[in-house]
Formats: sequence, C-alpha cells, structure tokens
Amino acid sequence: MKILIKNGLLVSPLGTSHADVLVDGETIAAIITPGDTTLGSQLESTVDRVIDASGKYVIPGGVDSHTHMELPFGGTFASDTFETGTRAAAWGGTTTIIDFAVQKFGERVQDGLSSWHEKAGGNCHIDYGFHQIIGGVDDDSLKAMDELIGEGVTSFKLFMAYPGVFYSDDGQILRAMQTAAGNGSMIMMHAENGIAIDVLVSQALAEGKTDPKYHSLTRPWETEAEAVHRAIMLARMTGAPLYIVHMSAKQAVNVLQGARDQGLNVFGETCPQYLYLSLEDHLSQPGFEGAKWVCSTPLRSKEEGHHEELWRYLRTNDLSIVSTDHCPFCFKEQKELGIGDFSKIPNGIGTVEHRMDLIYQGVVEGQITLERWVELCSTTPARMFGLYPQKGALAPGSDADIVIYDPAGRTEIGLEKTHHMNMDHSAWEGTVIDGHVDTVISRGKIVVENNEYFGTKGHGKYLKRGLSQYLM
Ligand code: URP
Ligand code: ZN
Ligand code: ZN
Repeated sequence: MKILIKNGLLVSPLGTSHADVLVDGETIAAIITPGDTTLGSQLESTVDRVIDASGKYVIPGGVDSHTHMELPFGGTFASDTFETGTRAAAWGGTTTIIDFAVQKFGERVQDGLSSWHEKAGGNCHIDYGFHQIIGGVDDDSLKAMDELIGEGVTSFKLFMAYPGVFYSDDGQILRAMQTAAGNGSMIMMHAENGIAIDVLVSQALAEGKTDPKYHSLTRPWETEAEAVHRAIMLARMTGAPLYIVHMSAKQAVNVLQGARDQGLNVFGETCPQYLYLSLEDHLSQPGFEGAKWVCSTPLRSKEEGHHEELWRYLRTNDLSIVSTDHCPFCFKEQKELGIGDFSKIPNGIGTVEHRMDLIYQGVVEGQITLERWVELCSTTPARMFGLYPQKGALAPGSDADIVIYDPAGRTEIGLEKTHHMNMDHSAWEGTVIDGHVDTVISRGKIVVENNEYFGTKGHGKYLKRGLSQYLM
C-alpha cells in the first residue's frame, strides 16, 4: 500500500516544515518538500491513498517507553492485556510501547522474559519491545543481563522500593550497575527509599490513618530525593548509566540536575500524572475515591509547586522523556483490595491512550514547544532505548509510524465510553484537550481514521532494541 500524506506541517525536534510524506509498504519512502519534482508530477495518481493533512501536524508516532501490561502487582494483575493496552495506545497516537518483563523473585530472568513474549506475541496492535525487571540480583541474573542484550533487551529496571517484592538492596544494585557498566546497558531505577516508607506506612496504619491520601503522605519527597541521590552515587562508583523512572518530586529532579551538570550519564523521566494531578484534588477525594490515583512515586501536593517545576525541568532537558507508567487497575475488586488499608491498594494509573494529548496540552498552555512535544514523546524515547531512527523519526527508511494531529480538534478524556483502556474508570475523567489525534499509521497500516479503528491484533511486532544512543 502506498500512501501520500499531503499539505501537513511536519514536526521534529529540530523544527517544523511544510512537506509531503510518501509511505511505501511498512516504511517512509520519501519526504517531499515543496517544489521537489524528483518523484514526478503525477505522484498522486500512482499511490493507493492520498490523505490531506492541511492545517494539521504530521509527527512520528508516539513511543511510550514505560508500560506494564498484565503486571502481577498487589495481589492482582494490571487490567490491560497486551491486546487491549496496545489498542488503546494506538487510539491515542502511540505506535510503540516498551513494556517491563518481570523476573519474579526466585525465577530465572530468561523465564520471566519468555513469559512476557508469550503474553505479547501475536496479541499486539502496535510494535513493542521489552525492558527487564530484575527482581532478584544474584550471579545467575547478572549473567542473564549480558545474555539479554543479544535478544534486544538492553535496559534493566531495579527497585529501591517495595521490600519483599521487587526490592534490591544497595549491594545488589551496585553489582547490577557494575554489570551494566560492562555491557553497555542502561539501569532504570525506581528511586524511593522503600525501607523508610515501610516504617512510615506501619506507623500511619497503627494510628488509624487508612485513607488513600496516606499513600502520598507516607512517601514524602525526601524518600524520593534520598533514593535518587543514592542511586546516582552508586552509578557514579560503577560508571553505569542511570535512568530514573517516574519522577514526581521537584527536589528529586534538582538532585538529578546537579549530577547532570557534573557530566554524569544520568537521565530522568516523568509522567502526565505528575504534571497535572495532585494530592489535594485527586488522592484526597472523599471516601475511597482517591484510590483511583494511588501510584508510586505518589501524586504530590500542588501547593508545593511540583507541577510547575517539572514542566520547567522538561524545558531544560533535566527531564528528558514523558512516558506513562501505564499500570491500570479497575476500581471494582482491584483498587477495592485496599479498602480500610491504603497500603493494599494496587499501585498504578492508566494513561497509555492519553499521553500524546496530555502533553500536547502543554504546548497549548505554553509550557513546551511543538518540537519539544515530539522530542519528549517520540524521538528521545526511541533514542534512549535503541530504536532510532526506525522509530521516533519521519525520514526515508524509518518505519511508517505516523500521527496526523489536529490542533483545531478537541478531545474530552475519560467521559463515559470515550476511552479504550480496560478500566472501569479513568484517572483523567473530565479532562479536555484542545487538539485531537486525527489519523494514526502503524508500520504503513492506517489504524485510526475519522474516529474509527482499523487496527488488528497481531500486527504489532517485537522490536529487538540496540544500546542507548545517548551513551555512544
Ligand atoms: O504505581 C506504579 N508505578 N505502578 C507500577 C509499578 C512501578 O513501580 O512502576
Ligand atoms: Zn516503578
Ligand atoms: Zn512502572
């Protein structure tokens, strides 16, 4: 199938330009600038489809580098399967996800990865890759880290939180970082001091403080900033690159900024929930409602000014990527596991469908430029995790993952039946975006057009990733 996308404004991190895009099969064949006649003046009559993108932006498909489909967590499983989650992602203009395969404690890393291939294989609507969670650092899992590089898994997540579940102690972290320094892979860190948090949680529960808001109050910003500092020092000792996931506290990013200013290979990610949602307006809603917004790191107090500072750090590139940390749980029977004990509420929010829109709203509100939107949501995640320029670029030879975005459109998020994630509620209910995902193309196939869905399960392919292109 040949598609010609005409008259759109192409947006890349480097700027905008009026040009046409020729798609041939699964890849982009040419970018045709005005006046360029090398492909002949009759090009339109030789293609199968012409899409008029007048007045619209044409951008590389979104790359969400942090999702958790079917994650076993808190006594249940994240409610999106690879099928439902990647379909929802496509609806929202995300054409690649990188999900976290899990090595459970006591399990071989390779077996954890195999089970993720089984869950995802043949089920995805868009292309997908994997990071690997190392749930038990020992000699075997360190060897497996070397092996997995050849299988296209080039980044490993460790947890300084969740003692007894995914937690690694400092010695284990140091050993994993030494391995990463040796094989060129990236350490991704959930940076929260889980040992201190567990004490605060027990004390709160003993005082009868059981409501969802205590999830945030027992994870104060110091627990994030301290862990970020410790992770950076361990990385510095070993020479390993470090990527801190889901940052929410401005003080923690300030610590990261200091390390970046010293020239260390440390990077930060945040998520839409930390840019828009808060302890006061969401987690503290009456009764058990706040459970919808329990995630870690937690939503923070809006009075402390985290939102504004995180947007600023996105502009200064101290935060380099916006991912979703998509980890949805239904309210009924899943979030409800924590009625009477906030520590039993499964942690996670579903956002995979809304990231491109939510961060575009930052453009509308003057927080970031159009170019930075594309950089944060598509190009940098592709580069950071070894997928560029196959993904994250509009260029000849790149996969034809393309979003046509309508700045004159409007998106009402989360109102009944307006989202496609497998959840019985939306953390984004009532949010209005001054823009709309108009058309989505995944490897040359039109999957969304005129608010209709044409994608298919099984179209998405596994992506063997290379090493991070920020470390070369
Ligand atoms: O609340 C969260 N973030 N749930 C998913 C697991 C994780 O820590 O990323
Ligand atoms: Zn995490
Ligand atoms: Zn996560």
